[in-house]
Amino acid sequence: MADYYTWIKAVHLISMVVVVGGMLLNGFLFRNVAPTSPDAARTYAAALAFNRYFVGSALALVWIAGLTLMWLLGAHKDGWFITKFVIVFILSGIHGAQTGRLAKLSRSPGETPSGLMVNSGPITLVLVALAICLVAIKPF
Ligand code: HEM
Repeated sequence: MADYYTWIKAVHLISMVVVVGGMLLNGFLFRNVAPTSPDAARTYAAALAFNRYFVGSALALVWIAGLTLMWLLGAHKDGWFITKFVIVFILSGIHGAQTGRLAKLSRSPGETPSGLMVNSGPITLVLVALAICLVAIKPF
């Protein structure tokens, strides 16, 4: 396959590392920032900016590169791809929910994040592991 395919895959993987790292960090903050901490609002505001500009741009790149790989590979009808697509769609939704929650918490840090947000780190890890197994093994 053409050489540029592997370069697009490299872009996909580098930006994916940023997205996963950012999502794990968000989960860590929801679990560990004490609502009474004097630094809570500032920490959430810094994380919000980081997510909006840095992680958000990386997520866009993951999608652009991923859809390009799908198109070049002709993978849109493959079972592994369709299953992975559902998983990465859910992951993108969780990232959106994390960013929304960071925005709320930066305004009112005393609020309690939902169970989904508190557990969003481990949930992200499980979904990413599934997505990686699907692309690496392509079991169906
Ligand atoms: C956080 C989300 C994602 C993770 C963790 C992830 C992970 C990976 C990994 C590890 C590979 C390399 C597989 C290999 O070298 O064999 C890969 C390739 C690929 N990804 Fe993703 N990806 C994500 C999002 C997406 C999205 C949004 C799409 C498209 C809608 C996509 C489509 C693809 C395709 C088509 C390949 C090429 C598979 C191949 O060349 O065999 N990925 N992804």
